[in-house]
Amino acid sequence: MIRADVRIAPSILSSDFARLAEEVARVEAAGADLLHVDVMDGHFVPNLTIGPPIVEALRKVTRLPLDVHLMITNPDCFIQEFAEAGANYLTVHVEACPHLHRTVQSIKERGVKAGVTLNPATSLSTIEEIIADADLLLIMSVNPGFGGQHFIPSVLSKIERARQLIDRTGSHAVLEVDGGVKVDNAGQIIHAGADILVAGSAIFCSDDYKATITAMRDAAHSGAADQSSLPRAGRQR
Ligand code: DX5
Ligand code: ZN
Repeated sequence: MIRADVRIAPSILSSDFARLAEEVARVEAAGADLLHVDVMDGHFVPNLTIGPPIVEALRKVTRLPLDVHLMITNPDCFIQEFAEAGANYLTVHVEACPHLHRTVQSIKERGVKAGVTLNPATSLSTIEEIIADADLLLIMSVNPGFGGQHFIPSVLSKIERARQLIDRTGSHAVLEVDGGVKVDNAGQIIHAGADILVAGSAIFCSDDYKATITAMRDAAHSGAADQSSLPRAGRQR
């Protein structure tokens, strides 16, 4: 079976910020499905990036859904601002949310899709009680904070277990993977059960965004095809 629904989300973290609108137009023309926006606060992660004004500016120059990844402490304080700025998905880290249920409801009440995400060392068990309410589950395959890091191989099994959890619970959440995603490992990641691939440096550091996104999608489709030849119990697609 060839999956037609693998989605690619370029992360603008690795784009040229001085030419942001042009970079966004290029990935949109190259076949991107969503635009991944990495928000970092210098507290939750050791890096500072962008905030609501940039999301608002992006909203004006693209029709792509804005997939906003909040790597910040106290995300509750900023949900309203990012919702008003035009985020389509707002994803929060379980490590930063002591009242995750409240945070997820607060995102959804504003008409925004709610994502939850886990650092590589955080157990999947931390989202078991919220997966039914989540619209997106993001599995981090690097320690968040920087683009251009290497995919942590042990996360593949976590992606498989996340897929099983979503399918077993009947959650409608889409499964996204972020960090170190390349053309070379896209097939494996999709094979493990991901729906959406975030890729920053693989796309923005390449010469031809369209060729890279197409190659990544092709590799992802081959991964899904490999999977169909290796049926696994409990797998629902
Ligand atoms: C890491 C960010 C990622 C990052 C991915 O903290 O959440 O979205 O931009 O970049 P690459 O694809 O280069 O690992
Ligand atoms: Zn991200």
